[in-house]
Amino acid sequence: MTDDSDPADDEQTPSERADAPAVTADANAASSELRPDGGAAGADDVALDPWGSSTVSDYRKLFDQFGIERFEDVLDEVPNPHYLMRRGVIFGHREYREIASAMRDDEPFAALSGFMPTGDPHIGHKLVFDEIIWHQQRGGEAYALIADLEAHSARGLSWDEIDEHARNYVLSLLALGFDPEAGELYRQSDNREVQDLAFELGAEANFSELQAIYDFDGETDVSHMQSVVTQMADILYPQLDEPKPTVIPVGPDQDPHIRLSRDLAQRMRYFGVTEAYASFEADAAERELIGEAYETLSERHPDETVRCGDAAEYLEGEREPGATDVAATTLDSTITMLREAGKEPLRPRVRILDRRATDEAFEALIEAIDGEKRVYDNHVDTFDLSREAAEQLARNVELDHGGYGFRLPSSIYHRFMTGLTGGKMSSSIPASHISLLDDPEEGYDKVRSATTGGRETAELQRELGGKADECPVYELYAYLLAGDDDEFAKEVYDECVGGERLCGGCKEQAAELMQEFLEDHQEKRAEWADKLDELDIDLDSDRKR
Ligand code: TRP
Ligand code: SF4
Repeated sequence: MTDDSDPADDEQTPSERADAPAVTADANAASSELRPDGGAAGADDVALDPWGSSTVSDYRKLFDQFGIERFEDVLDEVPNPHYLMRRGVIFGHREYREIASAMRDDEPFAALSGFMPTGDPHIGHKLVFDEIIWHQQRGGEAYALIADLEAHSARGLSWDEIDEHARNYVLSLLALGFDPEAGELYRQSDNREVQDLAFELGAEANFSELQAIYDFDGETDVSHMQSVVTQMADILYPQLDEPKPTVIPVGPDQDPHIRLSRDLAQRMRYFGVTEAYASFEADAAERELIGEAYETLSERHPDETVRCGDAAEYLEGEREPGATDVAATTLDSTITMLREAGKEPLRPRVRILDRRATDEAFEALIEAIDGEKRVYDNHVDTFDLSREAAEQLARNVELDHGGYGFRLPSSIYHRFMTGLTGGKMSSSIPASHISLLDDPEEGYDKVRSATTGGRETAELQRELGGKADECPVYELYAYLLAGDDDEFAKEVYDECVGGERLCGGCKEQAAELMQEFLEDHQEKRAEWADKLDELDIDLDSDRKR
């Protein structure tokens, strides 16, 4: 181990990323910022492409454009959150509330993620390993899969390469604490149930849709498309025994997959549940207007029946002369609907729609509804059930009649780590990342040579403080080296921005911690390597080439 990869302790390695906008640059970006004891920066722009090079400079766009929710909004609901959650490394989610509440109430839940075996597992993958393991330790069913079909079809890897990489992913996952007895490890190519489910899901998605989501075109391999439905099946696989909240920890590049899986889970359902006020179908925006009219009118005349015609008249009064925007169009269509329904009374109800139920299942549903109900061709309106009760009932009938009854999968998103050389951490640039297989000394050296958020000179650093928020070395502390020790992470941060910490010493400390981590990790890998045969995962494909 030498020091010659780094300038003397007093010299600073300037950030090479002065031109890359920092995630934290905007004071209004409160929710997309890392907490003071977590820091990160990214590259150019938002591009969510599962097979391209995804970069995210501005995590806010993920919230605004894609509807990912801010993790900090659910943080309080999570019992003893993981440090990656506390530090804002896990920054976003979809419906994680479901998981948090299952954890609190000791209800069943699952966590699943998958790994494309295209190279060595590195410290970016460790985030996901840790997330799966943490949920397992919190009582969740845990699943980790090797996405070998995807690696073969989308990345063109040979089966020999895939086998070797798969083995390495599995060993690191085990070394980090995954319990293979309690959880399930599988490869896509070996899981018949996943493939059967993929086939069924494929019947609900068509080419135009994949084209729109993934930019597929006439040249796209059929196998590549098959790997997409396989991933959809992976995501829903934990629910094959029974529906349960399932969280999929991933990077934001996988969000297109998450959205599609949520759509497909929905499309597989026999019934849909919505709220309504009258016999006709209204969309969400129209329903809101009708609801508003209903509330106002029934408050004004508590003893009278509010009829559709009355609501139409009330909404007429809301019209803004000359307006032609979306709101105005919705208002028009709502008024027309209500007019046509005329004397029909408005009454809040919970509607259960028949989507793909058999006649028998629909009959059974109608039968099972307690209290007042009104049956139509393709839906039934219930007047004494809450929405939750209706959803529960619909799911039970579906399960009794051989349906899946899927819940929509939840997800959590972690930040991409910045590469040690600045820019993106990439498997194809060895110096940019630390592989979990790197020789511990090599790991030490890579950290010592990393780009920092330091100032040009030690003097300036003492005066102005370092830019921990833009420092890949600080990220190493926050994402990995400080582990569960928030105080330590905060100390590094505070000392850095306060000008007490200089980059040479800071990197030395990080490099030593990295070396220790790798030594320990690799020891554990070696122990597992001897026991790998006992596991129920085949690491030798016997496929023809
Ligand atoms: N597509 C993922 C990747 O590129 C791998 C993957 C396959 C996956 N199936 C999954 C991820 C299910 C999460 C859940 O890394
Ligand atoms: Fe330098 Fe450490 Fe601060 Fe990064 S965190 S800028 S390496 S002192």
